Amino acid sequence: MKTVFFGVPPTDADILRPQLSAVDAQFVAEVLTSSNVAQAQDAEAISVFIDSGVTREIIDALPNLKLISTRSAGFDHIDVAYAKSKGIAVCTVPAYGTHTVAEFAFALILALSRNIIPAYQRLRVDNSFDSTGLMGFDLFGKTLGVIGTGKIGKNVVRIGRGFGMEVVCNDLFPDTAFTDEVGAKYVDLPTLLGSADVISLNAPYTKETHHLINQSNVSLIKKGALLVNTARGELIETSALITALRDGTVAGAGLDVFEGERRLIDVTTLVTSNADASMQSDGLKLLLADETLIRSGRVIATPHVAYFSREAKAEILRVTAENITHFASGTPQNLVTIQ
Ligand code: NAI
Repeated sequence: MKTVFFGVPPTDADILRPQLSAVDAQFVAEVLTSSNVAQAQDAEAISVFIDSGVTREIIDALPNLKLISTRSAGFDHIDVAYAKSKGIAVCTVPAYGTHTVAEFAFALILALSRNIIPAYQRLRVDNSFDSTGLMGFDLFGKTLGVIGTGKIGKNVVRIGRGFGMEVVCNDLFPDTAFTDEVGAKYVDLPTLLGSADVISLNAPYTKETHHLINQSNVSLIKKGALLVNTARGELIETSALITALRDGTVAGAGLDVFEGERRLIDVTTLVTSNADASMQSDGLKLLLADETLIRSGRVIATPHVAYFSREAKAEILRVTAENITHFASGTPQNLVTIQ
């Protein structure tokens, strides 16, 4: 089965190759775009990461395609419904980095709560021991709000409890056995927003979570709270967060993900794409809004690296190779099922 991997650097290709002896694997270092999709023209499988948008247009350009294997847990970068309508399977790596991402969320929380970045700059750049403006606050005794208590969210809850935080949770499917065990509790979203000193987003991107934090509910956030998003950028209406940062509702944000972040990765594609003028203008507005957040002194912005640890990367590559090998031998695993 010819399988073309996109966005795989040579070092990762060297790790994958011996695990893929049963398939004809080819590697392209660049992410998948309409400009290089022809490199997979006769492929039966492609493997991508979240920075490759697998749109209708891309799927239509791959007539032999049977499998899209994403090297991620989230699959909102793939038009799964369209793939399904064409009989193409989609598989994921459902459970890598569940500690990795939770630890990173806390790295952002601590960097914000203790002003680590301005403190570092004070000494490194200003060569000064002046502590003016660097006072932080203790996490101990504060309230952590976790939205989405799946594999990652549960670890965020556990770490928060380890810091001596009260923890309130919100999930479409509450796991009260878990909250009872760790000493947390489920509340509705408005209650969580109004009571948490630190909010962590850990829900997937779905129709329901689109703009979960938005212009209508952002004002419910407890004045001066921190907001951390290591899930997906689209969970936050970017303009609402900019407003909340400006008026001090949100004192600081830690963002590993951004609304429309694939456009940030390749601005040229947006400007030169076949999208009509209004879509291009919406895209550019969002790009500017994302830039506003990235440049804000109240935001710690990172380029979608919450998952990026040695351990998680090894797991991603191992499970991806296994997914493709299993599919090729007629025993698919980790398939995405949609209604
Ligand atoms: P999971 O599927 O184990 O948990 C997600 C939880 O969110 C579930 O309990 C689900 O019921 C809940 N949920 C769904 N809709 C909700 C809603 N409307 N309101 C409240 N809760 C809702 O997923 P996991 O492994 O914990 O990952 C969560 C997300 O983190 C992924 O979908 C992905 O988008 C993101 N992620 C980000 C990474 C990064 O590098 N920044 C790396 C890995 C995952």
